[in-house]
Amino acid sequence: MSDHDLRPKAPQVSDMLGRPLRDLRISLTDHCNFRCVYCMPKAVFGTRYRFVDHAGLLTFEEIERLVRLFAQLGVGKLRLTGGEPLLRPHIEDLIAALVAVPGIEDIAVTTNGSLLTAKKAKALKDAGLRRVTISIDSLSDETYQAMNDVGFPVEKVLQAIDHAEAAGLPVKLNMVVRRGLNDQDIVPMAERFRHTPHVLRFIEYMDVGNMNGWRPEDVVPSREIMARIGERWPLEPLEPSRYGEVASRYGYKDGQGEIGFISSVSQPFCQTCTRARLSPEGTLYTCLFGTSGKDLRELLRGGARDDEILGTLKQVWGSREDRYSELRSLLRGRGSGQKVEMFHIGG
Ligand code: GTP
Ligand code: 5AD
Ligand code: SF4
Ligand code: SF4
Repeated sequence: MSDHDLRPKAPQVSDMLGRPLRDLRISLTDHCNFRCVYCMPKAVFGTRYRFVDHAGLLTFEEIERLVRLFAQLGVGKLRLTGGEPLLRPHIEDLIAALVAVPGIEDIAVTTNGSLLTAKKAKALKDAGLRRVTISIDSLSDETYQAMNDVGFPVEKVLQAIDHAEAAGLPVKLNMVVRRGLNDQDIVPMAERFRHTPHVLRFIEYMDVGNMNGWRPEDVVPSREIMARIGERWPLEPLEPSRYGEVASRYGYKDGQGEIGFISSVSQPFCQTCTRARLSPEGTLYTCLFGTSGKDLRELLRGGARDDEILGTLKQVWGSREDRYSELRSLLRGRGSGQKVEMFHIGG
């Protein structure tokens, strides 16, 4: 890792706080076959909840066009997410189109793993996917099922991880930690994935959206997680692998693997946030905790020219001031509008 990789490249566009635009997170659908209690609690997102319908979704062609324009403004890194992105049929066709866009250097998918068969993993790899992140919140079948709330067995997600590895896709694993629900699984998870090339990341439970009933006392701060693991297997910090990385990286001192901590609550990382987010119906948000966004679908379907859309993207990013996580305690008190939901904006 050279110093060069850690500095932002010369920005084509920067926001009000001087942050360049580097990453685009694309939510391909707000549908999900899980009902994780911290994301889409069943009581709220049951049969009567209205998801975006097929006609409302951006088409692959529309997404590709937008990515070409974003790439001209400095975006080199894409993440496909959801909802559950593998619910979108033929996602590999989209991946193949996006990796061919000049300037795109990295493309990853964040998935719950339920649809990641050996065949799908190979198709994703063949299409040009660089890496995959799979959510797994526990190794205990009982806890895992209580968290996904649809009876999906942990054995199957473990198989999905193996399929990704066999297909040659580097794997990161996401564990959202919620006190009293799965914090007893921290050390077993670390133990299970030590000695593997997979990078396990512990994520502080966040107050995304409006429906997950978040309470500060449910958050297990990263320093506590780190202490619990470090007591068993001493850890040492690793250099960030690039500018604006959300996870702080640590290695086991005995060289047996890498873990990460995503500490949006206890140590916000807004200062280096270079991420824009596109919702399934084409609304552009500049923060995970946004309350409103810019409708790009209207422009796409209204016949706007590329230069007009580029102008809009520059204007939106240029006027960005978001830093929700830094201002959390202040903003939470204010009741300032409904936030976009996590499964809609893609985490
Ligand atoms: P890489 O570092 O490229 O592997 O990806 P990532 O960690 O950004 O992607 P992933 O989809 O795995 O996200 C991991 C967790 O970080 C999720 O819980 C995200 O919601 C959270 N996260 C990602 N970006 C942001 C952000 O800008 N703000 C906050 N608060 N959380 C974020
Ligand atoms: N807090 C933290 N992480 C969350 N995720 C979903 N909801 C939350 C939340 N409230 C995680 C998912 C997935 C990633 C994209 O975001 O588990 O791994
Ligand atoms: Fe769970 Fe991800 Fe689906 Fe949300 S989008 S319910 S976190 S699998
Ligand atoms: Fe970026 Fe908003 Fe997350 Fe801060 S809270 S890191 S500004 S997405």
